[in-house]
Amino acid sequence: MGSVRVTGCLAIAVLVCLSMVVGGVAQRGIPRDFNTWTPKQTRYSPDGRRVELLLNDSRAAYTGMGSKQTWLFGGLGAWIKLPANDSAGTVTTFYMASTGPKHCEFDFEFLGNSSGQPYLLHTNIFVDGIGGREQQIRLWFDPTAAFHYYNFQWNKDLLVLYIDNTAIRMFKNIENIVPGFMYPNKCPMGLYLSIWDGSSWATCGGRVKINWNSAPFIATYQLFRLRGCPATMGDQASITKCQNSTYAAPGKSSQTIGTARTRQLRNIRKNYIHYNYCDDKNRYNETQVPECKYNVL
Ligand SMILES: *[C@@H]1O[C@H](CO)[C@@H](O)[C@H](O)[C@H]1NC(C)=O
Ligand SMILES: *[C@@H]1O[C@H](CO)[C@@H](O)[C@H](O)[C@H]1NC(C)=O
Ligand SMILES: *[C@@H]1O[C@H](CO)[C@@H](O)[C@H](O)[C@H]1NC(C)=O
Ligand SMILES: *[C@@H]1O[C@H](CO)[C@@H](O)[C@H](O)[C@H]1NC(C)=O
Ligand SMILES: *[C@@H]1O[C@H](CO)[C@@H](O)[C@H](O)[C@H]1NC(C)=O
Repeated sequence: MGSVRVTGCLAIAVLVCLSMVVGGVAQRGIPRDFNTWTPKQTRYSPDGRRVELLLNDSRAAYTGMGSKQTWLFGGLGAWIKLPANDSAGTVTTFYMASTGPKHCEFDFEFLGNSSGQPYLLHTNIFVDGIGGREQQIRLWFDPTAAFHYYNFQWNKDLLVLYIDNTAIRMFKNIENIVPGFMYPNKCPMGLYLSIWDGSSWATCGGRVKINWNSAPFIATYQLFRLRGCPATMGDQASITKCQNSTYAAPGKSSQTIGTARTRQLRNIRKNYIHYNYCDDKNRYNETQVPECKYNVL
């Protein structure tokens, strides 16, 4: 850590507040808001607003960090640039997850590829410990050439995944329509980022493995936006507060993304989809995945 922050308040006629730093720089930005589990493979910019996650050795095939705060509903996102060139076998992630056995999770997982071949974006949604809602899309831009903004917008009626303000995935709360349907409305979640060796499945179904000669693989994240209702698993008062907060019902439009964005989403479904669990008839019938019917119509 190497830095200690001392805050003291002195009352001398007026109240003077001192915020003093001993032995280094006060933590700001990402190092203040996130815990890292792999400090040797993590590099921050001096202003703390950018972080690089390095994957550089087969013996340390995971690099990652997670937010100190957890939230129930909100808008959370970051600008991300993925490892370029020979990224086959790597998986770069940006996801929200709760803890415990019946966990909730929403994922962006970027599956690397051989030089010149495109990344695939894999997304999944877990509620009450149950996932199996995989979708994979091709991207309409090169995610290694520049930063793009990836974010989650999550309220009590709707969870939407966006890229650069384009809706790429939606998950509606249909509890009132489908009895027993589970929506993530009681699980406070943290925000996580990582890069790991997914050679066993990521690229061309696991046929193309990671090439350690091309290491380090570097995923860069910057300018996080963390706007959500703070809540903690097990603290029912905080959960109830968030269920009643403006993050739970942000205005009239909380139940819909509007016609323009619905059109975008349909376009993604039509032109960029690579795999969609909703269309996998060998795997599921309509009763098993009731949400599929309600999510783009
Ligand atoms: C990975 O890179 C970091 C930062 O350059 C370095 O400190 C660390 O020793 C490297 N790890 C391995 C296993 O090479
Ligand atoms: C990717 O390859 C190109 C061409 O060989 C090179 O110019 C560029 O620096 C490489 N990018 C990274 C991130 O290694
Ligand atoms: C990698 O590139 C191949 C060939 O273009 C493509 O079929 C595949 O979907 C790409 N992505 C992954 C993760 O395999
Ligand atoms: C939350 O809202 C519900 C209905 O809108 C209300 O019945 C309940 O008292 C509220 N709870 C809190 C803790 O504000
Ligand atoms: C769908 O699959 C489930 C589980 O296999 C089965 O119980 C159910 O009867 C099936 N429903 C229809 C409409 O086929």
